[in-house]
Order: sequence, then C-alpha cells, then structure tokens
Amino acid sequence: MADKDGILNPKDYGIDIPQANSTFHVKGNSHASWGMKSRLSKIFNPRSGNSLMLAFDHGYFLGPTSGLERLDLKIPPLAEYIDCFMGTRGGLTSCIDPSITGDKAIALRVSSGSSILNDDLSNEIISVDIEEAIRMNADLMATQVFIGAPHQKESIDNLSKVINTGNRYGIPTMGVVAVGKEMARTAEYFRLATRIIAEVGAQVVKCYYCDDFETVVAACPVPIVIAGGKKIPEYDAMDMCYKALQLGAAGVDMGRNIFQSDDPFAMVQAVRGIVHDKLTTKEAYELYETIKNR
Ligand code: R5P
Repeated sequence: MADKDGILNPKDYGIDIPQANSTFHVKGNSHASWGMKSRLSKIFNPRSGNSLMLAFDHGYFLGPTSGLERLDLKIPPLAEYIDCFMGTRGGLTSCIDPSITGDKAIALRVSSGSSILNDDLSNEIISVDIEEAIRMNADLMATQVFIGAPHQKESIDNLSKVINTGNRYGIPTMGVVAVGKEMARTAEYFRLATRIIAEVGAQVVKCYYCDDFETVVAACPVPIVIAGGKKIPEYDAMDMCYKALQLGAAGVDMGRNIFQSDDPFAMVQAVRGIVHDKLTTKEAYELYETIKNR
C-alpha cells in the first residue's frame, strides 16, 4: 500500500543539475532507438535543444474556436517559423498541404471522445491507429492524460497503448497533462501528473507553466513543453515562455496565444526568438512590434 504521508513533501530536486548519463540532446531519451532519436531531432532542434510546436488541435473537442475558424487560412502562413505542426488527423489532412510540411515535424493528436458539452472531459478513446500515424509520417503521437479525473485509468490505458505501439515503430509519444474544471494548476499537481506520464513511458510531456515550475521540470525525467493556455497579452505570453525556458522547459506547444494574437505572424517569430535564439522577453516584444508595424 502506498505510504501517502511519506511522499507528500519531496524537496531534493537537484535543480540545475543536468540529468545524469545524457548523450543525446533530448532529455531522458539517450537510450531511445535510432528512428525515435531521428524523429525527436526533427521536433527538438539539436542546436538549441528546444522546440516550437504550433498547437491547432483544439477543434477535436471545442469545435471551431476563435482564431481557428479556418485552419487552411490560419496555419500555413505560420509554418515557416515553427518546428512542429500539432494537429488532428482530419485537421492536418483536410487543411494542410503536405508540401508545406517540408522538414517540419508532425505531432498527431490521437485521442478524442469528449466535447465542451460534457462535464467530464476525461472519457477519451484512441481514435487514430499506428498505421495511420505511420501513413501520415507522424513524428510524435499526442494523447491527453487526466490525473485525478473520473477516467484517469482509461486515459492512462490510452497513453500506455499509444506508447506501446509507438515504441514498436520508433514513434515517440507525448502525454498531455489535462487540467479539468476542478483540477488545480499547482506545481504539486503538475509534478504528480508529469511524473506519472513519464514513468508510464512517454518520451515527451506537455504541461502548463506554474509557480515553482523548476521543480516540475527537475522531477520529470523527459522534456516538458509548455502549453500556452488562454489568450493573454502578447508581452505576458512571451514572458511566460521566457521564464519557462529559463527554468528548464524544452520549448512550447502553443496555440491560442499565437493564433489569437493581434498579429499571429509577428507573434510566432517573437516566440521563436525566445525558444531558439535566447531572446529576452523585452527583445522578443521589440521584435514583435517591429514585425507588426512593418
Ligand atoms: C490540449 O488540450 C490540447 O493540445 C490543446 O489544444 C493545446 O494544449 C492548446 O494549446 P494552447 O493552450 O496554447 O491554446
């Protein structure tokens, strides 16, 4: 039986001490297969070690949200500046010309089953099989994980199945930490969720930024990319990216704060500057303003 009292106050995170025995630029993946490392290197730039993923999978449970009414119009102009498209099977195949994917990675959302009409979003299935992921040339499969939610077990079952099949074919899996209506966005919760996802075997974890984020990163043995979350002012979104990167995030998987920006084209380039070129928040914002005012 788990001794809950004995595990509640972990504190020795070894902040700033790099993961031991690392021979590959993607944390925790030094022992991955050749094909998996090749795919991870498309997602995470070997020079910066980081990734700029553009998330536009929101329609899989939200329908046509603000900024994503037309994937075919909104996403292609941003493609040049990103490392990875993160979308659904239907969104990608119907709206994104494969010729623009070029050397960009494809992160394929493979879970679905809920919608904003449900109170409980955690009851998902895996709706895209491994053959389809291979046919689509996916470099990463993404599935939602609902720790502490009514269907936690099913979402971990989904995660496990995706990892098991992905490992068979060298395609990495990204576990996406879900935050339901009642779930806290605290470091304590994110440490729990990200660590569970990593220990089940996901090669990449997506999580939200929070206070004490460095403890979440340190306790998670694989890279964390942050979700952008709800639209906030451009400067604040850039500052969140900057702080997350400073505290150990390996990039961003950002959606609304790019495609709902006053100027998505300027915003994606500013965020890219933070992710890959070590721009500070102030420098990135200046870049944003310069591009916006051209
Ligand atoms: C998670 O629920 C999905 O991947 C979202 O579509 C994605 O996290 C949203 O990105 P953002 O929060 O930056 O809009």
